[in-house]
Amino acid sequence: MKYIVSTGALLKVKTDWLVIAVPSTQKISGLVGLEENGQQMIKGALATGDLKEEVGSTLVLRMVPGLQAKRLMLVSSGEKDQLSEKNFRTLYSAILTGLRASTAKSATISLEEIAVEGKSLDWLCKQMVVNGEYSAYQYDTTKKQPAGPVLRQITFLAGNRKQISTAQRAVDEGLAIANGVTCARQLGNLPGNICTPGFLAKNARALARKSPKLTVKIIDEKEMKLLKMGSFLSVSAGSAEPAKLIIFEYKGAAKTEKPHALVGKGVTFDSGGISLKPGAGMDEMKFDMCGAASVFGAMTSLIELAPKMNVVGIVGAVENMPSSTATKPGDVVTSMSGKTIEVLNTDAEGRLVLCDLLTYVERFKPQSVIDIATLTGACVVALGGPATGMFANDEALAEQLNVSGEASGDRVWRLPLWDDYQESLNSPFADIANVGGRAAGSITAACFLSRFTEDYRWAHLDIAGSAWISGGMKKGSTGRPVGLLVDYLLAQAG
Ligand code: BES
Ligand code: MN
Ligand code: ZN
Repeated sequence: MKYIVSTGALLKVKTDWLVIAVPSTQKISGLVGLEENGQQMIKGALATGDLKEEVGSTLVLRMVPGLQAKRLMLVSSGEKDQLSEKNFRTLYSAILTGLRASTAKSATISLEEIAVEGKSLDWLCKQMVVNGEYSAYQYDTTKKQPAGPVLRQITFLAGNRKQISTAQRAVDEGLAIANGVTCARQLGNLPGNICTPGFLAKNARALARKSPKLTVKIIDEKEMKLLKMGSFLSVSAGSAEPAKLIIFEYKGAAKTEKPHALVGKGVTFDSGGISLKPGAGMDEMKFDMCGAASVFGAMTSLIELAPKMNVVGIVGAVENMPSSTATKPGDVVTSMSGKTIEVLNTDAEGRLVLCDLLTYVERFKPQSVIDIATLTGACVVALGGPATGMFANDEALAEQLNVSGEASGDRVWRLPLWDDYQESLNSPFADIANVGGRAAGSITAACFLSRFTEDYRWAHLDIAGSAWISGGMKKGSTGRPVGLLVDYLLAQAG
């Protein structure tokens, strides 16, 4: 979609749809000066209660005398002068739903009546673009009928000329973030028979061709063996699809500047392996590469935003399948770190992939490492969709991610990594077991990873609940936590 920032009197705006937020007081300052007939039409509609007071209620009026706009959409913004963040989201999503339900191709939204508590114009514009793109995205790749036409253009009407440059910059940044989110959603939504490890590798090469600042290296199974990635390879053992290790390097600063690293779990389908999952809902395990997709998404945003910093993105792409060559419960494998792992459950495969990536990333001497993974069903039980589970071995990093989560609306909630949980991973046959029992499943999974991240500042994001929406016609990838990651990276670039 196209976004334009402009300014001018509401009365004079020529547009198919003019959208204005109306507080409970029903005072619309921008419409002062509207001719008598028009005033009466609006006042009459409001007085008869046609516009409900509930935030996000809408009313559409056609051919309002004195307005150049063909239609006027009034949206209730509630009692306060300033909207809470939650009410803003309700209001804006009602606007988008209303526009999408109509045949509108373009719309103009007046910004002056939309103020959000403690948030700047910059934040507002960014959010409006990111959410606008979120609602515009429709998956149709594997459908015969392409998705229908939707809204093509939104104009933001700023209150004065001085705001235009701020708003325009925010719109550009919002679009770059949104493109990253869309990239992640699209990869997530693709079925497992299309989005294989090889497909991800091909896409990585295509992405790197888009910018001289982005390079990619693909490591195949033969080379992984030379690197002694016995843990990662044990997940791939049962699959006919060869695993791929994808290494992106975004170079926006001097070589001497140490990079920040993102590490994504890219299990393109998780059947559970020999510890086979139950059948119900197993299709959703195509989303088990959403951590990897978020690394692709973040790289997409980075090449558009071009910040002066270095970022490494590592993706472990692999399929987890049962077969006669698959890893069996009780097998002991040797990770790249040299630590041996008893694979008690082949369905706890994410950590087996990640531990070797987390050892590999040491060679970049990273300033920070964030891994992103649909790691545990227990995280879905604990936090559901609203929050990504966060673990960190560094207080400042945890705090920065918290701040970025709040700023981007892509929130995290920290869980403990206390030593008390470590002993459940003891094994009589190896240095560590890959599962820790029923209790605190997300925490023991993070504890497993922590054994491989002692040499750098590290955070683990468990996106099992936040990366996609489950079940029914709403099923689909959310693109999280691309918004969070990009906000965090930009903050590090200063
Ligand atoms: N990919 C799953 C985690 C998952 C499950 C994410 C459901 C979202 C929804 C992961 O590989 C897995 O299977 N984890 C197991 C670990 C267990 C065997 C210790 C789980 O959560 O059940
Ligand atoms: Mn699994
Ligand atoms: Zn998995």
